[in-house]
Amino acid sequence: MRALPPSLSLSPACCVRGSQDHPSASSRLSVGLRAARSAVGTNPSPARPSAQPRRATTDRVGAPDAENARCPPSPTGSSVAAMPGISVAEVLDALGVHADPVAPALTGGMSGSSVLGAVTPGGEPVVVKVSSFGTPESSHRARRELDVYTELLLRVPLPAPRLVAAHRTEEWIAIALERHRPAPPASEWTSAQWHDLAVLLGKLHAGSRELAGRFAPLHAVSSRPVDELAVFAQQLWNGEGDDARLEAACSALDRLHDAVSDGPASFVHGDSHLGNVVLTTDGTLLLVDWQSAHVGPSIGDVAFALTRAAAAAGSIPRDQVIEAYSAAAGTASAAVHRSITAQQLLILVEQYPEFATFLGPGEVAGLRSAFDLLLEDWAERQ
Ligand SMILES: Nc1ncnc2c1ncn2[C@@H]1O[C@H](COP(=O)(O)OP(=O)(O)OP(=O)(O)O)[C@@H](O)[C@H]1O
Ligand SMILES: [Mg+2]
Repeated sequence: MRALPPSLSLSPACCVRGSQDHPSASSRLSVGLRAARSAVGTNPSPARPSAQPRRATTDRVGAPDAENARCPPSPTGSSVAAMPGISVAEVLDALGVHADPVAPALTGGMSGSSVLGAVTPGGEPVVVKVSSFGTPESSHRARRELDVYTELLLRVPLPAPRLVAAHRTEEWIAIALERHRPAPPASEWTSAQWHDLAVLLGKLHAGSRELAGRFAPLHAVSSRPVDELAVFAQQLWNGEGDDARLEAACSALDRLHDAVSDGPASFVHGDSHLGNVVLTTDGTLLLVDWQSAHVGPSIGDVAFALTRAAAAAGSIPRDQVIEAYSAAAGTASAAVHRSITAQQLLILVEQYPEFATFLGPGEVAGLRSAFDLLLEDWAERQ
């Protein structure tokens, strides 16, 4: 599966809207679908932060390993990928790590951040992630991730790699994390790995119900009226049978939102697709990329992992994942199952269409099958 931009993350917009916002959702649907037929075709590109000129003022944050003396600048002298104003040498130097010519190439970096392999003076392999403050949002996301690694990790046992070093300037934040193995693609995930991810998320949510404040939702709540939603959704759902799928989902829109917001809230990862999972040497799963972390409906992370994987994976042990998650989170599985189904449908309708151009036909076919199963599941749970 091609990587989708991480901005396809758990938008609070689809989780929080109350039914009173759109009392006549179903009645406006047909109008929306009709209008959509003539309006499909525009597909916004995901926003990318622009590079800013670099300034010299720096502010050291976090603490690298004691052995991390400043190392010589990288011989390359090149800029960080997609960040012309930021030099690799400066970033590595600020973190006290060296370039690692034999580090495996890392995927990702579509959010406007860049990742590269490096090594500490003591020989520990690390991943360096540099995020520029190109836009207010990218700056906010970068700070949020740093907060997770420097503050939250002290309060909650997070399933995240150890922070080795961090550095912040007025234009960028860089973190160095202990380097693990990226998880395999969704199609190669075993039932045991799915089970482990479910338990990991359940424990994360059970242990972080009380967190709030600075990890509030990233965006103000804004939701499209159902007729606009139909137009938007047809950017992706414009093939055979899609009108019926959309009609079924949109006519249940209020109940879907209610089913999501009825469940408990907690601190959530917010971008929990399998590309953001890494494996330690003993096979333990950890989550990276905490830039979208926020307080929101707990089931969001599981719903997102299942929905993103549906575009690529042959079969996902969905029922077992939900059972394992519910047990680990300490919540009743029937209610969790209904909420996850609702949230998956909302992700398909309210979020995926924005990224239609990133999806190949096979992936859309996978999502379409998932859509049908979710609609059946939803109907059975009324
Ligand atoms: N500590 C780590 N160990 C091993 N691999 C890592 C580590 N941190 C990140 N990676 C790899 O680098 C990729 C990109 O990192 P990350 O997701 O944090 O950056 P990103 O810019 O937000 O990526 P994207 O925008 O594609 O989601 C991850 O998908 C993962 O494969
Ligand atoms: Mg990522």
